[in-house]
Amino acid sequence: MRRHLPFLLLPTVLADTFDPLPLIDPLIGSTNGGNVFAGATRPYGLAKPVADVDGQNTGGFATDGSNVVGFSSIHDSGTGGNPSLGNFPLFPQVCANDEVNGCNFRIGDRATAYVADSVIAHPGYFAVDLVSGIHADMVASERAALFRFVFPEGENQHPLVLLDLTDLWQSRQNASINVDSESGRLKGNGTFLPSFGAGSYMMHFCVDFFGGAVYDSGVWVNNRGGTEPKDLYVTRGFNLFYLEAGGWVRFEGLANNTVTARVGISFISADQACHSAETEIPGPLDGDFDRLATEAEDAWREKLDPVSINPGGASKDLQSSFWSGLYRTMISPQNYTGENPKWDSGIPYFDSFYCIWDSFRVQHPILTIVDPKAQVQMVNSLLDMYQNEGWLPDCHMSFCNGWTQGGSNADVVLVDAYVKNLTGIDWELALKAIIQDAEVEPLEWAYHGRGGLQSWKDLLYIPYLDFDPVGFGTNSRSISRTLEYAYNDYCLSTLARGLGYEDLYDKYVTRSANWQNLWSDEQNSTIKGNDTGFTGFFQPKYQNGTWGFQDPIACSALADFCSLTTNPSETFEASIWQYQFLVPQSMSALIGLMGAEKRFVERLDFFHTSGLADISNEPVFSTVYLYHYAGRPGLSTKRLHTYIPSSFNTSNGGLPGNDDSGSMGGFVVFGMLGLFPIAGQDVYLISAPFFEEVNITSPLTGQTARIKAVGFDAAYENIYIQNVTVNGQPWTKSWIGHALFTEGWTLEVVLGNQESDWGTKVEDRPPSWGEAIVKL
Ligand SMILES: *[C@@H]1O[C@H](CO)[C@@H](O)[C@H](O)[C@H]1NC(C)=O
Ligand SMILES: *[C@@H]1O[C@H](CO)[C@@H](O)[C@H](O)[C@H]1NC(C)=O
Ligand SMILES: *[C@@H]1O[C@H](CO)[C@@H](O)[C@H](O)[C@H]1NC(C)=O
Ligand SMILES: *[C@@H]1O[C@H](CO)[C@@H](O)[C@H](O)[C@H]1NC(C)=O
Ligand SMILES: *[C@@H]1O[C@H](CO)[C@@H](O)[C@H](O)[C@H]1NC(C)=O
Ligand SMILES: *[C@@H]1O[C@H](CO)[C@@H](O)[C@H](O)[C@H]1NC(C)=O
Ligand SMILES: *[C@@H]1O[C@H](CO)[C@@H](O)[C@H](O)[C@H]1NC(C)=O
Ligand SMILES: *[C@@H]1O[C@H](CO)[C@@H](O)[C@H](O)[C@H]1NC(C)=O
Ligand SMILES: *[C@@H]1O[C@H](CO)[C@@H](O)[C@H](O)[C@H]1NC(C)=O
Ligand SMILES: *[C@@H]1O[C@H](CO)[C@@H](O)[C@H](O)[C@H]1NC(C)=O
Ligand SMILES: *[C@@H]1O[C@H](CO)[C@@H](O)[C@H](O)[C@H]1NC(C)=O
Repeated sequence: MRRHLPFLLLPTVLADTFDPLPLIDPLIGSTNGGNVFAGATRPYGLAKPVADVDGQNTGGFATDGSNVVGFSSIHDSGTGGNPSLGNFPLFPQVCANDEVNGCNFRIGDRATAYVADSVIAHPGYFAVDLVSGIHADMVASERAALFRFVFPEGENQHPLVLLDLTDLWQSRQNASINVDSESGRLKGNGTFLPSFGAGSYMMHFCVDFFGGAVYDSGVWVNNRGGTEPKDLYVTRGFNLFYLEAGGWVRFEGLANNTVTARVGISFISADQACHSAETEIPGPLDGDFDRLATEAEDAWREKLDPVSINPGGASKDLQSSFWSGLYRTMISPQNYTGENPKWDSGIPYFDSFYCIWDSFRVQHPILTIVDPKAQVQMVNSLLDMYQNEGWLPDCHMSFCNGWTQGGSNADVVLVDAYVKNLTGIDWELALKAIIQDAEVEPLEWAYHGRGGLQSWKDLLYIPYLDFDPVGFGTNSRSISRTLEYAYNDYCLSTLARGLGYEDLYDKYVTRSANWQNLWSDEQNSTIKGNDTGFTGFFQPKYQNGTWGFQDPIACSALADFCSLTTNPSETFEASIWQYQFLVPQSMSALIGLMGAEKRFVERLDFFHTSGLADISNEPVFSTVYLYHYAGRPGLSTKRLHTYIPSSFNTSNGGLPGNDDSGSMGGFVVFGMLGLFPIAGQDVYLISAPFFEEVNITSPLTGQTARIKAVGFDAAYENIYIQNVTVNGQPWTKSWIGHALFTEGWTLEVVLGNQESDWGTKVEDRPPSWGEAIVKL
């Protein structure tokens, strides 16, 4: 742990300070659907330069052996579906016969393979060689990117760099560019569509080139370029045809055959993009490249500084998974302060909450521990959206509303911050925002709020094929929405009670039991004709109270994928088998419905071993740990080891699914810490850590939490907790609260190779509301 020490002490302290950066591999998750952003960025930085490929390009680059089609300066990380951002890519090349039209302008024509083993990715730095012989590397400031394109030696060549008025998804509606013939400066803007949301956004750019003189310049359209005119405006024409177009500059007298390109990005204006670039990168050839690389590294070290580990013999790979996962939790959301074209509340503004359905579970909880100041700013950004857009978002990117996947899960993010005592948040405002989610149905509940609220209040469940003329969304997911709305209401009740509104607490805690109304005691489940042996599953229910039917294995890895648009079903992106475990407020009631502890554990085991569990998607995370609620905490650690490292490892394809703004990373980090958060509650489930010791210093209080494993063995035979002490006193509960971090407690777990009776007693299990509740 580095601290601000008197100057004279610094050199000695630095000398033996552990540096996690060499263990961070941004390429983890760069193929096999991880969709991570592998390029250069500062923590939460707006500028995110990387090479964009034509293969798995959701996050820009992928190690999938596809072709590079450009180098753009802004991205999201780990998202699924449509590729995100990647606006205004540059592309360097040498034109055949030294003719402008000897160059390739269109994406399909210019696509060039990269040299596989040339890729270098470090926090704050990315480099790649193209088979055309061009070497590219890049760094980032907050709002600007700096690229170096080194061209191969050659006679009579005037290397060209083009800018394409596109984004990765080719969602551009219209765009403009102006080319300055003297300086080669490119300025302009475009209107694009958010990759998973409604509406459109405008982005502006300002590009300057350094290292040589401008030879000639102009614009290009389709596969032809010319030196006149110097301005271009493109729109969508015949049948919304996508016209490929942009600007270009050719150079002469290049020092070292290198063009250095500085790209400023702004959501406000091109002038602001120029201003950011000029102030953040004033000396592109005077050491700024190295300075930016160093500053980014320092910024990352500072973010990771609260955490230190003693691996106790745990492999480099596991350490790399840990630090890389932690790194990826701080790439998104992005800090767009000063760049909001819609309003300015004078407070920090974050965007790319992409999406909260993914990130509420572990990503925001990890930030609450390691970077609580950022988490407070993010929570306040959500409340800022509520005040200026009228609603909390469930997903939000590029100043647009994103589509809602399940419940109103910003509620959980807010309440998680509340139960962990984050300060500087207006909790009465938060209560108002969450009550609105719970009470008022918006016309468009596809991108904020909840649908079917009339039924929710009258029938106490979301009906199958609901009749809902009040508002509109994709009218599916009746089971998963019922479960999520119930938990959202539970979180609301927690905040209400905390603020002293007992009447509201009573109302919403009662509603949080609504999940029970979709429990069908009779339902069984078969896989290809074989009975799974379990009876009692959630089922869809019509408004008239009659059961509908959805096969409990539908939407699982054994059946078809279900999303909002593909095969929409009564559960979202996962099966009834998956959702049956998602009642975090009342696990003991759920266990009762499933036939008590033994049958519950059998059901969980079956889920995890039958192919029904989909480790690639976030709803599965908590199910790895639910053994705790049945008094078998040892089985949670055992289950975790079946997924790490087999499904989460350091290979380029080492994430099982979309990282979703660091959600997969957060799962690995918590798993290795030996703590799993139940977001929305002041509860971390205790499991056996993957390292001998971890210290985490709270950036708020300066207190250091210590997690120590006695009897640790790096072969992971001793993965069963025998006993726990906290600050030297026996700790019988299988869970602990956030004060561990803020008050800097020492949590010591004694490990052995057999399950013990630690954490097995009913009173030692994690909290569960409504034990006494009988079925409605
Ligand atoms: C660009 O397209 C957007 C979205 O269709 C539209 O609102 C805007 O007016 C257009 N801008 C120009 C300059 O045509
Ligand atoms: C968009 O860019 C063009 C070309 O630079 C410029 O003329 C126009 O004013 C810009 N529009 C906005 C809204 O910034
Ligand atoms: C060219 O290379 C030399 C030696 O590596 C370096 O000192 C100089 O800064 C480079 N110049 C430019 C314009 O990149
Ligand atoms: C954790 O902190 C304690 C007390 O300062 C120290 O003795 C120990 O070495 C630290 N462990 C790690 C992994 O940093
Ligand atoms: C976001 O940027 C603003 C403006 O630079 C700054 O005040 C704020 O502290 C930043 N937030 C974080 C978490 O770095
Ligand atoms: C499963 O349910 C179906 C329909 O109710 C029934 O026909 C079947 O016998 C049940 N199977 C078992 C093993 O209970
Ligand atoms: C059904 O279960 C039997 C006995 O466990 C097994 O042999 C058979 O392969 C299973 N059939 C299918 C389709 O999974
Ligand atoms: C309830 O509604 C469903 C769907 O319309 C219908 O199939 C079923 O017969 C109804 N049940 C009763 C008891 O009316
Ligand atoms: C690493 O993780 C990926 C993604 O889950 C998985 O496909 C692969 O088999 C794992 N590799 C190893 C060596 O476990
Ligand atoms: C666990 O701790 C309890 C209370 O401190 C003690 O009585 C017991 O012997 C310990 N058991 C083991 C296995 O260490
Ligand atoms: C939050 O503050 C309350 C009241 O001071 C206290 O009872 C509780 O333990 C604190 N929780 C945490 C996680 O620090």
